[in-house]
Amino acid sequence: MTRRTLESLRSQRWYAADDMRAFAHRQRTQQMGMRREEFMGKPVVAILNTWSDMSPCHAHLRERAQAVKRGVWQAGGYPVELPALSVGEVMVKPTTMLYRNFLAMEAEELLRSHPVDGAVLLGGCDKSTPGLLMGAISMDLPVIFCPAGPMSNGQWRGVKTGAGTHTKKYWDEYRAGRLSAQDWVDLESRMTRSAGTCNTMGTASTMTSIVDAMGLTLFGASSIPAVDSGHSRMAAACGERIVAMIWDDVRPSTILSRETFQNGLVAYMAMGGSTNAAVHLVAMARRAGVDLTLDDMAEVSARIPVLANLFPSGDYLMEDFWFAGGLPALLAKLEAHLDLSRPTIEGRTLGQALAGAQCWNHDVIRDLENPAVPLEKGRTLAVLRGNLAPDGAVMKTSAANPKFLRHEGPALVFDSPGEMNKTLDDPDLDVSEDTILVLRNAGPVGAPGMPEWGNLPIPKKLLAAGIRDMVRICDGRMSGTHYGTCVLHVSPEAAIGGPLGLLRTGDIVVLDVAAGRIDMKVDEAEIARRRAEWTPTAYRYDRSFAALYQRHVSQAHEGCDFDFLAAGPSVPEPPIY
Ligand code: FES
Ligand code: MG
Repeated sequence: MTRRTLESLRSQRWYAADDMRAFAHRQRTQQMGMRREEFMGKPVVAILNTWSDMSPCHAHLRERAQAVKRGVWQAGGYPVELPALSVGEVMVKPTTMLYRNFLAMEAEELLRSHPVDGAVLLGGCDKSTPGLLMGAISMDLPVIFCPAGPMSNGQWRGVKTGAGTHTKKYWDEYRAGRLSAQDWVDLESRMTRSAGTCNTMGTASTMTSIVDAMGLTLFGASSIPAVDSGHSRMAAACGERIVAMIWDDVRPSTILSRETFQNGLVAYMAMGGSTNAAVHLVAMARRAGVDLTLDDMAEVSARIPVLANLFPSGDYLMEDFWFAGGLPALLAKLEAHLDLSRPTIEGRTLGQALAGAQCWNHDVIRDLENPAVPLEKGRTLAVLRGNLAPDGAVMKTSAANPKFLRHEGPALVFDSPGEMNKTLDDPDLDVSEDTILVLRNAGPVGAPGMPEWGNLPIPKKLLAAGIRDMVRICDGRMSGTHYGTCVLHVSPEAAIGGPLGLLRTGDIVVLDVAAGRIDMKVDEAEIARRRAEWTPTAYRYDRSFAALYQRHVSQAHEGCDFDFLAAGPSVPEPPIY
């Protein structure tokens, strides 16, 4: 490993010269109260902070940035905090997914346009992890991802409650008349007890665990609860480590390879992770120049059962997972399936990092011989194709009702969530447990931004009859904290002419997970006739970020990145004049 010299660091292009521009950079840094000796001759570390008052998952990140700074100072660097878009999952509409690429662009351009040599990325709520990392991978400066960490366990009336999962569960109970209005208000303050990301195996812990297994965090950092004192110590250690990484020139390109992503997939499937990761991983891989497809995921999913016994597939929460040994304990049970020679940002291999990892609770983190969900019962990610989804669709069968995995029924089709919500509460609705609910125009272009509308509500009259699951199909996504027999990410989406747009209420749809199929029983000639008549119904934006998004976003199976951001020719460093 060759050590960088001070002169070769990019920050020195701003700070070191004896000219008017460099004078201004030093002058303006001193304007902020820094003494010359505090920043001159040091690597500059950016802390990209996605804290905001609208992101409870990141509420503690202002304090954590201070801990990162402590580590950077101690290691002889100069830390600078740069705020970045928060993409807080629950508040941002229509969906944070619309802004994942915005954050990716922001992260890349913040790093490019400022005098920084490396960065610690503070994030964790769903889209913030892929957003920050996509940008950082493209920029390829030394980076550490510092995960926000999961919130503390929730409980209500003696029952363990998980963020998202139980919101959905109790909402169904409330709609079915089994919870009172007072219960419903009481619940508001019980489930989400502290700062931090969802304590279920939602998209946040899915993505942070995957990038941890890929070696982009301090090892095991993704499992540390957000408000644990160990979380502050981890943040300080990130600050210390990034300075060494800058000198040693450890970049995302040093870490990432097809094998690294394969390791990420093993963690993904064993965690019982969110379907959303299927989109984000393709996007991240493409930024890294790695070819990763839905079929790669299906292959790993077919051999790695769910070991983490966590909601929504299992019975525990992330704090239990931490006490059981966290991600290191899980990966130690999967050594035979991992490429242990892959380097991590810690400067050691995954195998070295794993040495000594132990599991303290084999019910929370199951063994391969005794998985939380055996392969024959359900998988983290099934990939389906057929005349409804020629380019693919995904499904988390581990969170579905097994009786629906081979199912045939009439479609009930909706073009918008507004229309759907109104109709599904109709007490006279012609619907049964066998009906297949379909929502379209929820894809990357259609919505736009591919919102989490894919967990279509069960019709009120069926809820009252005790029914809690049905087959649902959508070209949008579903929250990783949710569960049910939902076929998602249908590609190509309806809004660009995908066959889902040609389906009509009453058509028979066949779902066959074992065969990997999702089809409508409509003959070719009729499909062709409908296609000739089809006109787009999704709203097209002519200005704003949504207009840029609709014109450049790729389909779900391609990662929903922008065409002009995928791997390509290198971008020159900004001229300094
Ligand atoms: Fe932020 Fe779930 S809402 S992680
Ligand atoms: Mg989520």
